[in-house]
Parts: sequence; structure tokens; C-alpha cells
Amino acid sequence: MKYVEASQFGGPDVLVLKEKDTPEPDEGMLLVEVEAAGVNYTDVVARKGFYPAIPRAPFTPGLEIAGMVSKVGKGVDGFKTGDPVAAILPAGGGYASHVVVPAATAIPFPKHLDPAIAAGVLVQGLTAYLVLDQAQVKSGDRVLITSAAGGVGSLLVQLAKARGATVIGLASQSKVDKVKGLGADHAIAYGKPGWAAKVAEVTGSQGVQVFLDSSGDLASEAFPLLSPFARWVIYGTREGQRNALPAEAALAFIGKNLFLSGFNLGTNLHLVPHALQELFKSLMDESLKVQVSKYPLADAGAAHRQLEERKTAGKLILVP
Ligand SMILES: NC(=O)c1ccc[n+]([C@@H]2O[C@H](COP(=O)([O-])OP(=O)(O)OC[C@H]3O[C@@H](n4cnc5c(N)ncnc54)[C@H](OP(=O)(O)O)[C@@H]3O)[C@@H](O)[C@H]2O)c1
Repeated sequence: MKYVEASQFGGPDVLVLKEKDTPEPDEGMLLVEVEAAGVNYTDVVARKGFYPAIPRAPFTPGLEIAGMVSKVGKGVDGFKTGDPVAAILPAGGGYASHVVVPAATAIPFPKHLDPAIAAGVLVQGLTAYLVLDQAQVKSGDRVLITSAAGGVGSLLVQLAKARGATVIGLASQSKVDKVKGLGADHAIAYGKPGWAAKVAEVTGSQGVQVFLDSSGDLASEAFPLLSPFARWVIYGTREGQRNALPAEAALAFIGKNLFLSGFNLGTNLHLVPHALQELFKSLMDESLKVQVSKYPLADAGAAHRQLEERKTAGKLILVP
């Protein structure tokens, strides 16, 4: 089997394609032939050594795969060779031609669904779906979304629109048209100072009721944009930033009755089965779309480089 190894923590060049014997599935396990290994920004964080679930190198990145059952371990019911199956791998291992996963956590997906699309709604789709639930986004809410052309962001835009929200998407200038194409009511480039004034303008100075934030460092621009009782969910940071909220933030929180929460998929896994069922349904009826860019497994480093350089949109998939 082929797999990508990060020999040490570092830049994209530490990702190297290797080969070893394909493992046999033990009791209760499935051997899966990977057709699509999803790339997540979290893989970049892990490669740099900042992801707590992967504390040491060498390691194989990759938090999700979709493919086909190629061998069934003893004692497994409900799966047979050839079944389409996906899996979330909390400790990595997905950048590979084959993975062994516990049958108990394997996720069957519809036969007619492209494995690359199925992988696109695993970590990123689930995060988008559950963040919207946590923020209690409902019809009529004005929702501000960072990195709105990205993996999670592009799904947040579509799912928030499907809930009847007014969506304001933030993205680099080169992706503003993509965000509009996803259905956002407004798409605003947030690379230059002054973007917050544009957001204020499109809300008629009423601000937003919901801020879905994958940056974690936009507090000073965001506070004036939040309307009374606004819900602000932080689900990501970039560059390993650790920015504390300024002490002055307390006044804004008190003055506007704001709600701030964090979100982490790992502690919400009990909500996954229902959320995935809904996501697969939306993919099948085409009310939800995943834009996929494919790379050969050997080009994992190139995929990481483009992700870090903010050159990508939608879902990146490695094909073994
Ligand atoms: N909490 C959880 O359980 C959970 C689960 C999944 C993902 N996440 C987090 O959610 C965020 C989005 O993940 P994703 O996989 O969908 O990635 P992504 O948003 O597709 O990441 C790439 C995009 O992020 C934007 N970005 C903003 N600041 C950046 C920076 N300093 N460096 C590089 N890119 C930057 C860029 O878009 P623009 O140039 O348009 O801004 C870039 O194209 C990440 O922070 C990830 O760690 C959290």
C-alpha cells in the first residue's frame, strides 16, 4: 500500500510518499481501499505540530477517507466487500491507499455518491452543519461567515441560506465571486482595512445576529458588527494564534448581551449520525454542492502549500 508520511513536524516538504505491506483487518475491523482522502486545514495545523491529537512525528496525516470495503475482519456484521464506506480518523492516517477502521465507526454512504463528494461532507460538512445548529441560525438571521469560499465556509454559506438566513461571506478578493456563486447575499473581501464598514453598510447599520468565525483574531473588527444578543461561534484559528480577548471585550459583551462559544467536532461526535444523514440527503437532491479539487496522493505537499497560501476554494481531495 501507498501512504504519505510526515517524517517530522515542519513545512509541506516533510510530506513524503512511501510504501509498505497492506495490513489485514483484525476482528471487528474493515480494510478500506481509499478512493478519496480528504485534506483539511487541520492537517496543516497537525503537520506544523500544533494539533493535540497528533503529538509526535513521524505520522500519516488525514482525518477522513471515503472508498470501498476491500476486506472484512472476523465478527463484522453489516458490511461486505465492495460496499461504499467512509470514516473519520481522529488521530490521522487517511493519506493512504488503504486504511483499517473499526466497523463500528465506519459510515456507509449512498452507492451513487462520488467518494470525493462524500469525503467533502465529513469533517468540513459536519462542522458546518453542527456549528449552524450551535449558533441556532434561523430564517431572517443576518449571518457573517469568515473564509466563506473555503472547505467549511462554502458549506456554511449554502446551509445557512437553506435555513433562510441572509448570508454575508468574507473571503480574499480573488474568491469574492465564488462566494456570490454559492448563494451568499453579500460577499466582501476582508484582506484590507475598511471591510467591516462594508459589512455594516449591507446590514443597514443593524449588524449581524450570528458570526461564524474560523479566524479567532477578528475581535476588534467584529465587535461593532454584532447586534444585541448576537451569537458568535469560534471554531478555528490560523497560524497557531493564541489571541486572548482584550479586557475591553467585557464591556461589549455586557453592553450587547452577546453570546460567545467555541465549537469542536471531536466533542460532538454523538451528533454525527443524524447530521451525516441530512448532509448525504442534501447532496443526493443536489441542494448542497461540494466543489472538489483533486491531487494525486504523491502531491500531498503541493496541496498543503496551496491551502496555506490561500489559493484554494472548496474541498481538496488526494486520490491514491
Ligand atoms: N473545531 C473543529 O472541530 C473544526 C473542524 C474542522 C475545521 N476546523 C477549522 O475550521 C477552519 C476551516 O477549515 P477548512 O478545512 O475548511 O479550511 P479552509 O477554510 O478551506 O482553509 C483555507 C482558507 O482559509 C482562509 N484563511 C484565513 N486565514 C488564513 C491563514 N492565515 N492562512 C491560510 N488560510 C487562511 C483562506 O481563505 P480566504 O483567503 O478567502 O480567507 C484559505 O483559502 C480551520 O481553522 C480549521 O482548523 C475546526
